[in-house]
Amino acid sequence: MRVLVTGGAGFIGSHIVTALVEHGHEAVVLDALLPAAHPTATHPAPPSVDGEWIHADVRDREAVLAALRGVDAVCHQAAMVGLGKDFADAPAYVGCNDLGTAVLLAAMAERGVRELVLAGSMVVYGEGRYDCPRHGRVRPGPRAEADLAAGRFDPLCPECGTPLRPGLVGEDAPVDPRNVYATTKLAQEHLAAAWARSVGGRAVSLRYHNVYGPGMPRDTPYAGVASFFRSALARGEAPTVFEDGNQRRDFIHVRDVAAANVAALEAAPDAAAPAALTAYNTGSDDPHTVGEMATALATAFGGPAPVVTGDYRLGDVRHITASSRRIRDQLGWRPAVSFHEGMTEFAHAPQRAGV
Ligand SMILES: NC(=O)c1ccc[n+]([C@@H]2O[C@H](COP(=O)([O-])OP(=O)(O)OC[C@H]3O[C@@H](n4cnc5c(N)ncnc54)[C@H](O)[C@@H]3O)[C@@H](O)[C@H]2O)c1
Ligand SMILES: [Zn+2]
Repeated sequence: MRVLVTGGAGFIGSHIVTALVEHGHEAVVLDALLPAAHPTATHPAPPSVDGEWIHADVRDREAVLAALRGVDAVCHQAAMVGLGKDFADAPAYVGCNDLGTAVLLAAMAERGVRELVLAGSMVVYGEGRYDCPRHGRVRPGPRAEADLAAGRFDPLCPECGTPLRPGLVGEDAPVDPRNVYATTKLAQEHLAAAWARSVGGRAVSLRYHNVYGPGMPRDTPYAGVASFFRSALARGEAPTVFEDGNQRRDFIHVRDVAAANVAALEAAPDAAAPAALTAYNTGSDDPHTVGEMATALATAFGGPAPVVTGDYRLGDVRHITASSRRIRDQLGWRPAVSFHEGMTEFAHAPQRAGV
């Protein structure tokens, strides 16, 4: 297969390019080298990629049309990621993520490229799944600042105020994006579904959970929590853990995410319904708390033990863990890197330059 990987110079995209080449495929990389993702380079040099390299923005129709020549499938990773600095970032997120996706899909329609694998995200769910002993499945809304400030981190049953049991979300759980980034990731899926219906294409959205591993960007407002901890350790400081450290996440290694993309690209003709979008949670099925993750990294690094601060960020969800059974059953993918192995490697792995 000849595959266009948008965002192929990024953290996850570059691992996908490597995995594609290892599987005997050809990669075409298109990336705008956004300063938020590639901050140290004022005039970014082309990254060394295992494929054809195109420095362009996905919103550039002519560049995308040219990049699609001879391409069998598109693996769309290009996006602005993270929570950003504040709401003023909203137009930039919507531009890169949604206008960019629309331009890409229109160019695919024009070129007759019918296979798409999209970098989806668990952020589309908002809070994870919760059950109340009396009311069954409930959907707590965003947490109030007063509760967070008072150290009441766990959402309670909206009906009776009882503590809830967190569970695993499935792909059919209702969506509830809680911030601009999450909204743009959900809109990407809706656009891809509309494209698939309209042109008879096949779209797969891999809803990644918390991806970590070598090449993860250092701490910027756009980076993930594992990279904040790793950067603190590299400075000789203790990782600082927000809330009480008991927030649960599903940490998935970047090489496993890359392998999931290859599996989805190879299986798309059989595994994805025609003229529709199929979503797959892409996680380890081995949830851990953020505190456990900080401890695992600090121990493997040989650095100071984490400090739990009780600080919080509005808009963060408390627990979000998924069942990744569908991708195991339908695409035959399963993660190969365990939490312990992955965190031990990450504690010593190089990070991408930060600000
Ligand atoms: N890292 C995670 O934990 C995580 C979790 C869920 C989903 N995702 C998704 O995975 C994808 C890759 O994320 P990442 O963590 O590798 O981030 P990243 O910032 O390292 O990579 C994104 C790449 O896309 C490029 N890009 C952004 N906007 C572009 C545009 N308009 N045109 C061309 N290139 C553009 C950037 O320059 C960058 O190289 C994103 O779609 C993200 O939403 C990531
Ligand atoms: Zn209840």
